Amino acid sequence: MSGSTITPWVVGNWKMNPMQADAQQLIQNFKGLLDITPIESAKCHIGVAPVTLALTTVQSVLSDSNREIYTVAQDVSRIAGTGAYTGEVSAELLKDSQIDYVLVGHSERREIFGETAQILNEKIKNALNAGLTVIYCVGESLEQRESGQAEQVVLQQICDIATVVEAEQWHNIVIAYEPIWAIGTGKTASPDDAQTMHAQIREGLSQITAYGKSMAILYGGSVKPENAVELAACSDINGALVGGASLNAESFHKIALAFANTK
Ligand code: 13P
Repeated sequence: MSGSTITPWVVGNWKMNPMQADAQQLIQNFKGLLDITPIESAKCHIGVAPVTLALTTVQSVLSDSNREIYTVAQDVSRIAGTGAYTGEVSAELLKDSQIDYVLVGHSERREIFGETAQILNEKIKNALNAGLTVIYCVGESLEQRESGQAEQVVLQQICDIATVVEAEQWHNIVIAYEPIWAIGTGKTASPDDAQTMHAQIREGLSQITAYGKSMAILYGGSVKPENAVELAACSDINGALVGGASLNAESFHKIALAFANTK
C-alpha cells in the first residue's frame, strides 16, 4: 500500500473552545452540512475533539448522524483505571463513555504543560491498552527547523513511543505532523516541505513497524479550505488535524470534502 491509498482522516481539534451552547450549535451545523453534501465514510474518516466537558454533548448530537463522526478526547491521564487522582480522566473512563480516540503529544501539551516523552509514553500505553486509537502529534519548532534539525527532532519523537507501543498496537496509531511554527500562525508548511517530512516519517515508521506503509499521517498547522486541496494532493499526507478552521462548520466541511475528493 502506498501513502496515497490510505483513507484520509480529517479531525477538528477545538482546543479550549467554545462554550457548551456554541459547541452544540457547531456540531449541529456540521452535521447539517453533511446531510446536504454528504462525504462517504469510505472516502474520509472524520472526527472532532471538543473539550472534555462537551464530549458527551457532541456524542448525543451525533447519535442519529447518517455517517460515523468520531468523538475524540484532547487528552488522557497517564494514570490508568480509577482511583484517587484529582482532576484526571483515564483511558478506561473515556472508553466507558464510548470515546474511542484521543490526541496525545500535541505541542501545546508538550510546551505549555511540560509533557515529556516519558509522560506521553505513559499516556499512550494506557490509551492503547484500554483499546483507544491514539492520534500522536509530532513537530519541530521554528528554531529547530532553521537550524536544520527538523527531521531529526520529528523522527526522535516517533522513536520515543516505540518503546511502549507493541507490534500489533501500531495499527491503532495515527500520526499528526504539526510544525509548531505553523500552528495558529496562518503560516502553512509548503505542500512540498510537508510531503518531504511525511515521506521521512513514513520511512521512519516502516523501519519500526510492519504497519508503517499503511498508517495515516495527518498534517496540521493553519489548514484551511484554501490550502486543503494542495495538501491533500500530496501522496503521504493522509488527512489533516485542523485547529482554528474546525471552529467554523463550513470551513471544516470544505476541508473534509477536499480530502475526500482529492484522495
Ligand atoms: P491551527 O489549524 O489553528 O493552526 O491549529 C493546528 C493544530 O494545532 C491542530 O491540532
